[in-house]
Amino acid sequence: GYSSHHKKIEAHELSARFYHHLLMNTEQGKEAYDYLLHRGFSPEMMERFQLGYSPDHSNVLKGLLEKRKFNLQEMEEAGLLLRQESNWDLKDRFRNRIMFPIQDIQGHTVGFGGRVLGEGEPKYLNSPETSIFKKNETLYGIHLARQEIRKSNTAVLFEGYADVIAASNAGITNAIAVLGTSMTERQAKIIRRNTERIIICFDGDNAGQDAARRSAEILEQEGLIVQVALLPDKEDPDDYIKANGAKRFKSEVIEAAVPLMAFKMQLLKRKKNLQDEGEKLQYIEEVLKEVTYLSKAVERDFYLRQLADEFSLSLDALKQEQFHIYKESK
Ligand code: GTP
Ligand code: MN
Ligand code: MN
Ligand code: MN
Ligand code: MN
Repeated sequence: GYSSHHKKIEAHELSARFYHHLLMNTEQGKEAYDYLLHRGFSPEMMERFQLGYSPDHSNVLKGLLEKRKFNLQEMEEAGLLLRQESNWDLKDRFRNRIMFPIQDIQGHTVGFGGRVLGEGEPKYLNSPETSIFKKNETLYGIHLARQEIRKSNTAVLFEGYADVIAASNAGITNAIAVLGTSMTERQAKIIRRNTERIIICFDGDNAGQDAARRSAEILEQEGLIVQVALLPDKEDPDDYIKANGAKRFKSEVIEAAVPLMAFKMQLLKRKKNLQDEGEKLQYIEEVLKEVTYLSKAVERDFYLRQLADEFSLSLDALKQEQFHIYKESK
């Protein structure tokens, strides 16, 4: 009910303040603090995103929640405590992790992402789905980014918490992220209520690129104007910013973002050597396939002409080939 909902949020906000205090002001949090500094996260960013540290003990948060008279059963339902299989005792869910509080669009803390310091599995431990934390309608960073998203009529969408923070540090404050899952229709609708334009900037690996394509399609279906930024293979936005600086990230990645079709062409190009006659023909064939399945006639025409120009081909030949592709798919 209403009061349980509020209790769960209150407990999350208390936990976030507690974890943040441990990170910023205590000896216990020093290793985590140094880890973040070493990664290039400034103290200003640790403040802006209320980053924290969960200590390496199993009863610390539990003790605090108990002292503040929270119902521990309710705290288990809220995802902050976990029941041990051995003795049924409750203990802290997050232990020895960097804590990223996750807020809803109003700014209420409803969950956490917890990262190991350095290497380890799982790399991120996230709060479970609960009555206050609905993953399919949550976007990391949206509360902080919302004003800038509206003002610029553009959102920049990332894969990870770390990318949002690195981007924000680089001056890109209209940054949000999906929560390690693919974009949902609910999330797309929430974005659309705040902006008409979005730039997708996912990791440069295959998983990231596939997710970018799927997300782009869902966002386009909700009526957003979508552009996609391509990163070097195996790099993510956070790595890129760290290696090349904010200025190059803005000019060579964000401002170089292109429409979905052009992004697909860039990806295909990356895999082929266009000096090789055979690979060039394969490339043309694959682009043609993508073009054929575009839903808008104007777009089909546009990219067909572009392909004809780029490879000095006649439009007639391309259209004939398209007809074959179309027939084969039937
Ligand atoms: P860093 O290594 O800290 O830079 O992480 P990243 O932001 O580059 O994360 P990555 O690209 O590996 O994953 C993107 C997002 O997926 C993360 O922000 C998490 O939300 C989620 N994610 C990553 N690893 C895990 C995991 O082991 N478990 C779960 N549940 N989610 C994960
Ligand atoms: Mn603070
Ligand atoms: Mn990734
Ligand atoms: Mn990444
Ligand atoms: Mn990363």
